[in-house]
Amino acid sequence: MIFYFTGTGNSLAAAKAAAQPGEQLVSIAAARQKGEFRYTVPAKEPVGFVFPEYFATVPIAVIEFIRRLELRHGGYVYAVITSGGGRHHGDGLLRRELAARGITLSRVFGVHMPDNAVLYFKAPDARKTETLLRRARLKCGEIRRAVRHRECKPVRGGLFASVMQPVYRKMNTTRPFLAEDTCTGCGKCARNCPDHAIRMANGKPFWQKTHCTLCNACINRCPVQAIQYGKDTKNRGRYVHPDLR
Ligand SMILES: Cc1cc2nc3c(=O)[nH]c(=O)nc-3n(C[C@H](O)[C@H](O)[C@H](O)COP(=O)(O)O)c2cc1C
Ligand code: SF4
Ligand code: SF4
Repeated sequence: MIFYFTGTGNSLAAAKAAAQPGEQLVSIAAARQKGEFRYTVPAKEPVGFVFPEYFATVPIAVIEFIRRLELRHGGYVYAVITSGGGRHHGDGLLRRELAARGITLSRVFGVHMPDNAVLYFKAPDARKTETLLRRARLKCGEIRRAVRHRECKPVRGGLFASVMQPVYRKMNTTRPFLAEDTCTGCGKCARNCPDHAIRMANGKPFWQKTHCTLCNACINRCPVQAIQYGKDTKNRGRYVHPDLR
């Protein structure tokens, strides 16, 4: 069983590519919405957690899911962290959060993928995107084989990701989000938001929560690029994994 969290599709694609044949994928966003936190996984099956790196730490949605998770299993538990910079820092924090639920993490893998953080950086161009996605597919194949062989490696990582949590939780305001007049009122942003932070009102999106996981799905996945985050996101382009386009 793989628990995945994604904003723009990279981590979903990584989860699918790293999955064993027939392995079940569980969306953390959907599970939180339905209040489904109890799972039983047969001892011979691996359990994976696949999610993106945010601010050198673990997404709030993933931490909040794990804190309520009741997982009965007897087997191998691993994680895959996708990142735009190719480095991941959430290992130690994830290990501690899982240990608090009685779950031992055996291995963490990293996958370098296109950077979706258009709130801060320009989206990668088509060529860079294609190269990164090709390499990521190969890496996920290696991960699938390593998981099949239950490869373990001590999960290191100190306190850096824990130190970054308060920084992240200061940055995750929704206040700068706005929809321009080109918005067609399709409601996709509200439907795609894993935090239910967006509500449609009079045919336009309204950010009803003051803070969110900041997954960048709304801004990247708007079909007409009507969403901005303050003044700087206009010319940054947008990124969505091809499977979600
Ligand atoms: C708010 C935010 C913060 C991010 N911070 C980092 C970071 O600290 N380091 C990094 O390498 N990538 C960072 N990224 C990039 C994502 O980790 C990367 O693009 C990831 O593959 C996106 O996964 P998804 O498509 O499943 O949402 C950040 C993305 C967002 C939206
Ligand atoms: S996805 Fe874009 S066009 Fe659709 S409602 Fe949201 S802002 Fe408007
Ligand atoms: S409001 Fe936008 S950035 Fe925040 S969680 Fe929802 S989709 Fe992600």
